[in-house]
Amino acid sequence: MRKPFPAQGRSRNDVIAEMRAMKTKDADWRHGRTPLYVFKATDAVYEMGRDAFFEFFSENALGARRAFLSVGQMEKEVIEAALDLFHAPADAAGFMTTGGTESIIQAVQTCRDWDRARRKEPARRGNIVASESAHPAFNKAAKLMDLEVRRVPTAADLRADVKALEAAIDDKTMMVVGSAPSFPHGVIDPIAALGQLATKRDLWLHVDACVGGYLAPFAKDIGFDVPDFDLGVAGVSSMSADLHKFGFCPKPASTVFYTSADKARFHGFEFDQWPNGRFATNTIVGTRPAGGVAAAWATFQFLGRAGYRAIAKDLMKMVQDYKSGVEAIDGLRVQGRPHLSIVAFGSDEIDVFRVSEVMAVKGWVPGLVQKPRAIHRMMSLIHAPSMDEYLTDLRAAVGVVRQEGGAAAASIRATY
Ligand SMILES: Cc1ncc(COP(=O)(O)O)c(C=O)c1O
Repeated sequence: MRKPFPAQGRSRNDVIAEMRAMKTKDADWRHGRTPLYVFKATDAVYEMGRDAFFEFFSENALGARRAFLSVGQMEKEVIEAALDLFHAPADAAGFMTTGGTESIIQAVQTCRDWDRARRKEPARRGNIVASESAHPAFNKAAKLMDLEVRRVPTAADLRADVKALEAAIDDKTMMVVGSAPSFPHGVIDPIAALGQLATKRDLWLHVDACVGGYLAPFAKDIGFDVPDFDLGVAGVSSMSADLHKFGFCPKPASTVFYTSADKARFHGFEFDQWPNGRFATNTIVGTRPAGGVAAAWATFQFLGRAGYRAIAKDLMKMVQDYKSGVEAIDGLRVQGRPHLSIVAFGSDEIDVFRVSEVMAVKGWVPGLVQKPRAIHRMMSLIHAPSMDEYLTDLRAAVGVVRQEGGAAAASIRATY
């Protein structure tokens, strides 16, 4: 039965109490039970972001140009800092958005309009060539704009297969996609080679660094093997990088960049054929929380490069320990060579989906990859305190599944 609109108001305490009661059904993310969705560095970073968000709780970033100039200034400074971090050319430009999906949709629209303009074909239906490991946001963008996405299998190392991508290009191709890293396997695609391909075929290369953009530079700084992936790589036209993931900023906050003003000029939306006159935005959404902008600015100021490096050090060490812990369990192995904090591990001997099902009974929300079949974890420092417990439960679950000897088939599906 449908619940009616509340007839009378209730006390604040009553409302909060009911929400808290509902929340008890949720996954216990604070203790690392969710393998995705929530990202955390330290308590201090969390508190900085939260307090900055609530400083600007009521303001609207839609009014950043005319009313809330401080919000406009913070947005500009976040973008400038990111352009510096990502080795952007002098006439590069960037914008804040509310998430990775919005950044990707905007980059696809910008590329589409650039492609239509340069070919003088206003109704051209272009296609996007991507590895099968690219995020579904490209298909969402294509659905909205009636474009085609051509996905090709990854290479054996789970990175984008440059030759296969090249083979999928035809005369309607406008964009090639590389991920840094890919969500399913956590590997950084060969962005430099993709840049060469894009240059050779005169195409737009988008680097989807949504999940790793704000971690990769710092992991590289402290000596990890992180291939070049950013706006400084020849042939890159645009890049998305989420602040609300490994930038450790509150949701909603992402960034999208273009390596030249000539391309960035297709990004914005402007309209004045209605009674209220000029309406101009650089986002798909209109109203958006100023808190997301303020919190990103505050987090950058609070941490600086040194702070991000220190977090990267702790996080990369933790991921290393998880990987060793997983590989110490007989029958499990990490897939590919993940570069940052996403790890997928599978087995040639037992069904890891069934292992995940057994783990779920103990409150570990499953994260799965369907090809190749694997357990998936996108880790941040919320996963540090529960590492031993996780690995103990994992070992036990593997034991249970071995004992079942395939008798209990997994009914679980890989779901994002
Ligand atoms: C590689 C990649 N791209 C894009 C996205 C989409 O980001 P959002 O959920 O913020 O829209 C994600 C989300 O995990 C991602 O991993």
